[in-house]
Amino acid sequence: MGKVIAVIGNKGGTGKTTISHLLAHGLGLYGKSAISVLTDETREPLLRQNRRYVPLDARTPVQLERIMERIHSLPTWIGVIDGGGNRAEMDAQLYSLADLVLLPFRDSHEDIRTVLNDLETFPNAWGLPSQWPTNAWQQMAAERNIDELMPDYRPRLLEPVYSVSSSKLLLQSDTPFALPTVLNNMARRLAMQVLELLEIPLVEDGVPPPDSAQ
Ligand SMILES: Nc1ncnc2c1ncn2[C@@H]1O[C@H](COP(=O)(O)OP(=O)(O)OP(=O)(O)O)[C@@H](O)[C@H]1O
Ligand SMILES: [Mg+2]
Repeated sequence: MGKVIAVIGNKGGTGKTTISHLLAHGLGLYGKSAISVLTDETREPLLRQNRRYVPLDARTPVQLERIMERIHSLPTWIGVIDGGGNRAEMDAQLYSLADLVLLPFRDSHEDIRTVLNDLETFPNAWGLPSQWPTNAWQQMAAERNIDELMPDYRPRLLEPVYSVSSSKLLLQSDTPFALPTVLNNMARRLAMQVLELLEIPLVEDGVPPPDSAQ
């Protein structure tokens, strides 16, 4: 069966859409067949052109069901579902469908309070620090926020996805084929963590990933 990853969380603007595309891109860079699944009715679908993964439109329940069935019938495929904020019911449904659930959050108190609640509600989900500061002082402040507000949840947090302005290139419909190295490296780091959690080998049958030299 193909695997399904859901990127959800009750708060808007935490980076769900960016992370779902970044992850699908990273999986593509490792030679995996990935689909990015749009479920947010307020967003327009993106074009396939130049992407290393397939973006699909699942804004209606029927489309979502069909795509889930398709992914499950394709053994090596990985679907990354972009949730969309403020949809508790949808989040609960995606949580029950997915093999792995990611909850992006930024370093603000508000995001941390919301993700704490989501981590409680979804006990198998992973918190994913998102738009994380790259400046050393801001990074220390962000880590302090985690230590103060959610110290017990450290074991359920993944490595951060840093704030990178080129991440918006992935959300354009006309994504360039060659993306900045910093973005590709971040996509690979995220994909690597996810593949490890899903226990999917990085290199299958001794074939190196196609973009390993990039
Ligand atoms: N890692 C990042 N680096 C820089 N900017 C980012 C990053 N992740 C997200 N952003 C920016 O933050 C904003 C919100 O991101 P995004 O749309 O991915 O969040 P979302 O959780 O999907 O929002 P919504 O709840 O509206 O669906 C966008 O302008 C996006 O470009
Ligand atoms: Mg979104």
